[in-house]
Amino acid sequence: MWDQRYNEEGFAYGTEPNDFLKSEYRRVPKKGRVLCLAEGEGRNAVFLAKQGYLVTAVDQSLVGLQKAENLAAEHGVEISTTVADLADYDLGSEVWDGIVSIAAHVPPLLRKEIHAQVAGALKRNGIFILEAYTERHLEMDGVGGPPQKELFMSLDELKVELEGLELIMGIEIERNISEGKYHQGESVVVQVVAGKIA
Ligand SMILES: C[S@@+](CC[C@H](N)C(=O)[O-])C[C@H]1O[C@@H](n2cnc3c(N)ncnc32)[C@H](O)[C@@H]1O
Repeated sequence: MWDQRYNEEGFAYGTEPNDFLKSEYRRVPKKGRVLCLAEGEGRNAVFLAKQGYLVTAVDQSLVGLQKAENLAAEHGVEISTTVADLADYDLGSEVWDGIVSIAAHVPPLLRKEIHAQVAGALKRNGIFILEAYTERHLEMDGVGGPPQKELFMSLDELKVELEGLELIMGIEIERNISEGKYHQGESVVVQVVAGKIA
């Protein structure tokens, strides 16, 4: 499905970064190494590279990541890309100054496995930034969100899954999204910033 979507003309979620990432990325230590999970066509990775970060984008879609590399080249920056199913991807140990997860809707068991690795994979003072659709989004008119109910996220679940980190902010909010043709309109999302402070 994702290769098919990314084979369409243009960028499914636009070429501008996610709004929440744009407002919060400065919390990530400057010039640090950042991992973008399920990064698709690279809009967030390229934005972060332009801000001086060393960015790795991982996604299962080869088509998406090829577009990400082209987008990076167009913007005169480099990003590193890895085509992998997150089920097989090891986030590593104390490697990242930032980990970014934008609309990375994977099955709950896998999501828990990934989130269980985040605290160990971040360096001290590293920051995790997440935005995802919540189930209440189904009541809204906006386009976006995963096809299956169990793939939505909630703040309560995320608090448990990220308990190795300090929650800096966590909120479920309604917001009007305009990020490409597949993320549009009135939406309900969960937003989290968490840090490895200790
Ligand atoms: C809604 S898109 C978001 C893309 C990007 N984060 C953004 O904000 O533009 C979801 C992405 O998750 C990726 N994805 C879904 N399941 C995955 C998995 N198991 N392993 C790796 N990537 C996955 C898809 O390929 C797709 O690029």
